[in-house]
Amino acid sequence: MKPGTRVLHTGVEIDKYTGAASIPIYQVSTFNKTDVHSLDEGYIYSRTNNPTREALEEAACRLEYGNKGFAFASGMAAISSVFSIFGSGDHIVACSDIYGGAHEVLTELFPRFGMEVSFVDATDLDAVKKAIRKNTKALYLETPSNPLMRITDLRGACEIARQADLISIVDNTFMTPYLQNPLRLGADIVIHSATKFLGGHSDVTAGIVIVDDDELAGKIAAIQKSFGAVIGPMDAWLVMRGIKTLKVRMEQHEHNAMEIANWIGKQPGIAKVYYPGLKDHPGHHLHKEQSSGFGAVLSFQTNTIGFAKKIMHGIKLPVLGVSLGGVESIMSYPVLMSHASIPQDQKEALGISEDLIRFSVGIEDVEDLIADLEQAMK
Ligand SMILES: Cc1ncc(COP(=O)(O)O)c(C=O)c1O
Repeated sequence: MKPGTRVLHTGVEIDKYTGAASIPIYQVSTFNKTDVHSLDEGYIYSRTNNPTREALEEAACRLEYGNKGFAFASGMAAISSVFSIFGSGDHIVACSDIYGGAHEVLTELFPRFGMEVSFVDATDLDAVKKAIRKNTKALYLETPSNPLMRITDLRGACEIARQADLISIVDNTFMTPYLQNPLRLGADIVIHSATKFLGGHSDVTAGIVIVDDDELAGKIAAIQKSFGAVIGPMDAWLVMRGIKTLKVRMEQHEHNAMEIANWIGKQPGIAKVYYPGLKDHPGHHLHKEQSSGFGAVLSFQTNTIGFAKKIMHGIKLPVLGVSLGGVESIMSYPVLMSHASIPQDQKEALGISEDLIRFSVGIEDVEDLIADLEQAMK
């Protein structure tokens, strides 16, 4: 089956209890049992298990070619639940320009419980190897990275992790399972902020974790149940509805992003454009080998901070705010938004400068987006 058909026909799109063509929203916290000795059979309590959530978990799992999926209340709940399988004394190697929230929990929250982290430029596999210590337990990656769209060799990095007996974790939010499948490239755990493209309509926060190993699935299931940061049935339903149109949205997003990346690079006052679809992007060929598309997100630097602010305050169509992956375009200012929690010196070292704008290109008619950018730049 081709990917566009798979997002619609996951095999779990029909409700197994009623035949409903849209999985019902089982808005319930507890389930009646007929025998106190059979508590483990069927559904018990929605923090543990819920039919709507289960349908989303199974659909996402199949789209990522995994064995077991888990749905959470947000991408951060998913990320933090995954990190919670590690413990005191464990060390994690993470790629340096990750989402600010992931950076924050790795540097502020988990160190309180004795965990350690090192950040590396994961585009350099030797640097990844060198960062591994005796107590390293996991390698955490985002590719394309956020917000500078650096590309990590997923096969190479996951192989390094495998040889060192580390768990490789990939945040696949930017690409979605429609464009990139990290488990098939050697990763052990895939994470999505389903708030973004999977939901796709800026109307829900959600997170998904997919694994293909039973032991890992058991560990994550235990955290999901005991920590309890689960998605509610209504939100699970919204994400499932979003997934049904993933193919058409991703194709339109990418068409628009490519047009804008090519156009904006030629405009006066634009210093640099970061989009893996551009042939001169340093990771272009590598990205093409591991993904089937380039996605919706691009970043660009202007020559001056003033010009960046002029664009952000002058645009009319895109939402100016945090987040990405909605049908509508969303323009963000990483330095004060997604990456605000990263210390200033580290932001500078990473190139997250004050003239950097991140643009999640929506599915509007691209001519209108270009006209809007043009008027904002004037
Ligand atoms: C790549 C990436 N991962 C994870 C997250 C966190 O997801 P959420 O906002 O759903 O908690 C974000 C949020 O922007 C993100 O961009």
